[in-house]
Amino acid sequence: MKIAILAGDGIGPEIITQAVRVLEALKSDGLKFELEPGLLGGCAVDAAGEPFPEATRRLVAEADAAILGAVGGPRYDVLPRQLRPEQGLLGIRKMLGLFANLRPAVLYPELANASTLKPEIVAGLDILIVRELTGDIYFGEPRGIELRDGQRVGFNTMIYSEAEISRIAHVAFRAARKRKRKLCSVDKMNVLECTQLWRDVVVETAKDYPEVELSHMLVDNAAMQLVRNPGQFDVMVTGNMFGDILSDEASMLTGSIGMLPSASLDDKNKGLYEPIHGSAPDIAGKDVANPLATILSAAMMLRYTFDQEAAAGRIENAVKRVLAQGYRTQDIYEPGMKKVGTAEMGDAVLANI
Ligand code: IPM
Ligand code: MG
Repeated sequence: MKIAILAGDGIGPEIITQAVRVLEALKSDGLKFELEPGLLGGCAVDAAGEPFPEATRRLVAEADAAILGAVGGPRYDVLPRQLRPEQGLLGIRKMLGLFANLRPAVLYPELANASTLKPEIVAGLDILIVRELTGDIYFGEPRGIELRDGQRVGFNTMIYSEAEISRIAHVAFRAARKRKRKLCSVDKMNVLECTQLWRDVVVETAKDYPEVELSHMLVDNAAMQLVRNPGQFDVMVTGNMFGDILSDEASMLTGSIGMLPSASLDDKNKGLYEPIHGSAPDIAGKDVANPLATILSAAMMLRYTFDQEAAAGRIENAVKRVLAQGYRTQDIYEPGMKKVGTAEMGDAVLANI
């Protein structure tokens, strides 16, 4: 098992350090893997002049999986678009064909009060957002900003082929089959042809999964229902842009975006694993960031790419115990709990592995 370690920018190096400690602990316990560091994002721009340098391309092409901290920072926002850290992330997703982005939003009972919603609304929350990750308006052509009739016009293209829709729909139906067998497909078919096709293809794909109850929801309504009654959802499937937005929204239901891992998979379960939060430049280097989303991303990697369910479960149980023991980073802190920094949170997880 060869794993590329991409620390990235901002809080990335701090949180990745904790995930690596957890992986090393499992290694000394008998799991065999090689961890190889690489540069992606702003740190790669600084060191190599581009966000996704050739050496990193080679590294991730050869690795079985990659784990990423986060990329980006205000310093880089002034660079031409192709040199921005985010292009490194989009580049790695596209190059590796990581079309299936799984973003679980699970509420740990200990954190019910950390949510901004009432505890009774979020109790028992367990949603899996399946976001298509290599298509849609993110990658559609034509795109640009140009002069038309003397004024600047900005444009992007929302585009999906039926093959792209059906392969992500299959991923979502298969995931639903292993859970509560409910799938909600999110689109905007009342306005956008592209998502009319989305709905048509999802309905066609459903014929292969009679045991899964399929529903459809317009994206504006889905955004509203997520805060009104999130318990109605089991698996949600949607396109790249809607999934970007809805997954941030869903993460807050669980108390902190600092808790949520993600997996981005190709059709052979090779994957890139990353917390869904960003690089949080405002708290970088202060040892206060929550490393749990990254540690839980390592667990997802062991489960999805390496089929090491027992090891994944050990990490997840350790995280649950740490929360039950009262350890909290500042983003999930409540009075009466033990406030810890990034490294201390890592220590607590290791103690429970
Ligand atoms: C995410 C992020 C990225 C995205 C950015 C950093 C390019 O918001 O992974 O959700 O929009 O996909
Ligand atoms: Mg996002």
